[in-house]
Amino acid sequence: MSKKSVSIFQKLKNNSEKIAMLTAYDYSTAQVLDEAEIDAILVGDSLAMVALGHENTYNITLEEMLIFVRAVARGAKNTFVVGDMPFMSYNLSVEQGLKNASEMIKAGANAVKLEGCSEHIIELTRRCVECGIPVLAHLGLTPQLLNTIGGYKIQAKTAETTELILESAKKLQQAGAFAVVLELLPAESAEYITNNLTIPTIGIGAGVGCDGQIVVTDDIMGKFTDFAPKFVKRFANLHDVVLEGARSYSKEVKEREFPSKNESFELSEGEKEKLYANK
Ligand code: KIV
Repeated sequence: MSKKSVSIFQKLKNNSEKIAMLTAYDYSTAQVLDEAEIDAILVGDSLAMVALGHENTYNITLEEMLIFVRAVARGAKNTFVVGDMPFMSYNLSVEQGLKNASEMIKAGANAVKLEGCSEHIIELTRRCVECGIPVLAHLGLTPQLLNTIGGYKIQAKTAETTELILESAKKLQQAGAFAVVLELLPAESAEYITNNLTIPTIGIGAGVGCDGQIVVTDDIMGKFTDFAPKFVKRFANLHDVVLEGARSYSKEVKEREFPSKNESFELSEGEKEKLYANK
């Protein structure tokens, strides 16, 4: 199998097939998602909270993100990888955004994700695409704007605000974005936006009417348990699996059951006697 390209997004939408995306932050998780043939992986800045324990996504730098992008890219042999541009790594100027987006690509990402739809983001999207950097847009609840939005609030709750998001999505589509993440929208609003765009929508907390879905892997696998938004469904319970494993390990160490001969190495014949000969 060869590395999937950005064209799979449009191909799946055109065939009315749903797009399944997940997040990954490390090599071994990327390998598993690759084996599962997930359509695309996002190295989301959610890793600031989920993997690094920060309260929000503000406290992750581009340099830190690049470490995780490199690890995921090494594990995702066939899967398309999107690198999330962290807070203020693309907002100062188009040049800054382009330079930093290129760092993501050099680290192994196949595309970048940009939050929002200001004139600056539209221009940056256009310039990235011109330079060969595919852009995944992100509208609705955009966590990097949490302080101005005023918290994790459902967006597009009225016909009017739904139209505003559609308008923004159309501008990003026009600028060359290959798809748009819609976060935390009523299902009907997200479906309406989806039906009025030619590029695919990838929903998170936005109902079944989107062209695809994305969720944080650690949330749906039950590994990150600090909180669980309503849109998170548990597909596994890694927290309990790891907890049980850690407890069994600790018990066996304390009871001298681990490591057994199976997990140990032995001196060759006669060497042990030599060790103790002079004692
Ligand atoms: O950072 C992230 O993981 C995201 C999502 C869309 C899941 O932006």
